[in-house]
Amino acid sequence: MYLGLDFGTSSVKGVLIDAKQKIIAIASSPLKVSRPQSGWSEQNPEQWWKATNAVIKQLRKLKPKAIAAVAGIGLSGQQHGATLLDAAGKVLRPCILWNDARSFAECQDILAAEPKAMEITGNIPLAGFTAPKLLWVKKHEPKIFEKTAKVLLPKDYIRFRMTGDYASDMSDSAGTYWLDVAKRDWSDAILKATHMRRDQMPKLYEGTDATGKLSATLSKAWGMPLHPVVAGGGGDNVASAIGIGAVKDGDAFISLGTSGVMFVSNDRYSPNAGKAVHAFCHAMQGKWHQMGVILSATASLEWLATLLKTPAPQLTKALGTKLAGPSEAIFLPYLSGERTPVGDSQIRGAIIGLGHETDSKVMTHAVLDGVAFAFRDSLEALKAAGTNVKRVMAVGGGTHSELWLKIIATVLGVPVDLPVAGDVGGAFGAARMGLMAATGASYGKVCTKPKIAKTILPDLKAKAAYEAAYKRYVQIYPAIKGI
Ligand code: XUL
Repeated sequence: MYLGLDFGTSSVKGVLIDAKQKIIAIASSPLKVSRPQSGWSEQNPEQWWKATNAVIKQLRKLKPKAIAAVAGIGLSGQQHGATLLDAAGKVLRPCILWNDARSFAECQDILAAEPKAMEITGNIPLAGFTAPKLLWVKKHEPKIFEKTAKVLLPKDYIRFRMTGDYASDMSDSAGTYWLDVAKRDWSDAILKATHMRRDQMPKLYEGTDATGKLSATLSKAWGMPLHPVVAGGGGDNVASAIGIGAVKDGDAFISLGTSGVMFVSNDRYSPNAGKAVHAFCHAMQGKWHQMGVILSATASLEWLATLLKTPAPQLTKALGTKLAGPSEAIFLPYLSGERTPVGDSQIRGAIIGLGHETDSKVMTHAVLDGVAFAFRDSLEALKAAGTNVKRVMAVGGGTHSELWLKIIATVLGVPVDLPVAGDVGGAFGAARMGLMAATGASYGKVCTKPKIAKTILPDLKAKAAYEAAYKRYVQIYPAIKGI
């Protein structure tokens, strides 16, 4: 048996699979985000630990024998969060999360201190990444900065609690901005530019390698007498890629979750830092991936649902399933700034074209369109980096709306494949990495693709109108940027 744990922003999920990768049990426990100031986003790591234990408890209750046979555990998690520990391994402050925008000025500081930063890392420094967050802490909380002995990503903090090891994998570490992504090693130049040292970083592993074993105390407490090995694992997007078998050059998927991601697997390292394409490592040695990242995907719909006091599924259901054309209103989903292609954490969302007739349906439609246009922006940025996307698989909570997928297929101009069990994502990929680390099985054998439940094709009748609406959409950011 193999266990995958995914430390998302809104929940911790656990998936238990057998040697044939059949899902034996699933459990989850919710998490809350705190926003102490506009643009800030934090979580207390203790909350993750409590939720992790709640998930294990549920799984044990459901399948005690299967849990007792766990031989490998894989970890997946929200990327980029800065968990700061003192020399005794104690958490120094709440984790600053991936969608926290406070460290925009520090991104410029990195470029000023190391003009070759974009060349070294293959990425533009963004407020969401870990390194600028540490410069912010240095400036605003110097005592905490001085005490910081280790910086861990969210899933790696849980690993530390599970095994006692300070370890990370290449894919998640690439999102810190301290990694030389081409060399798969920490960059001394970037560490220096942010006043950090190698000894403050965890040890690096590939995602499919074992980093250690579950401690004796926890093996007992969690009812796992085999002392399972813990795999390097990956950032949630890489773990989702492993879960749906996006491992060959050109394999692509979109993730329609809190954030939106367009992910492409690459055999070579292919950066396009100017357009804020994320060029990161994949879970396997010698493989990379590119991502376009939208900060507020289903988060935009959730924002509207809160405003209209109507649950999101009800809002999308009210639109029906037929696509007549784009909404009259245009929505920019920049509720907490945007990564690809603008790399701007200070910009905020906009709605253009409001009229007396604008009702909740028009607004819902505008939000679905706006997120689809943001995916198109990512597609264009990936194209500019030499990547050709011919079709995409779709995963994440937002895929429950077929209309949304139809809009996305139309705006991207490619077929969208919906896998049968679309919801398990990162946790299932993590379980696969647990299996590979425990058995040494190759990714080529393990990472098969799921069956496709449905393929959603672009709507040819609506295509021209959507193309015209996208042309209007791309003019909005430059027009509002300076306001
Ligand atoms: C990717 C990113 C998000 C988080 C969400 O760069 O920041 O997808 O990983 O969990």
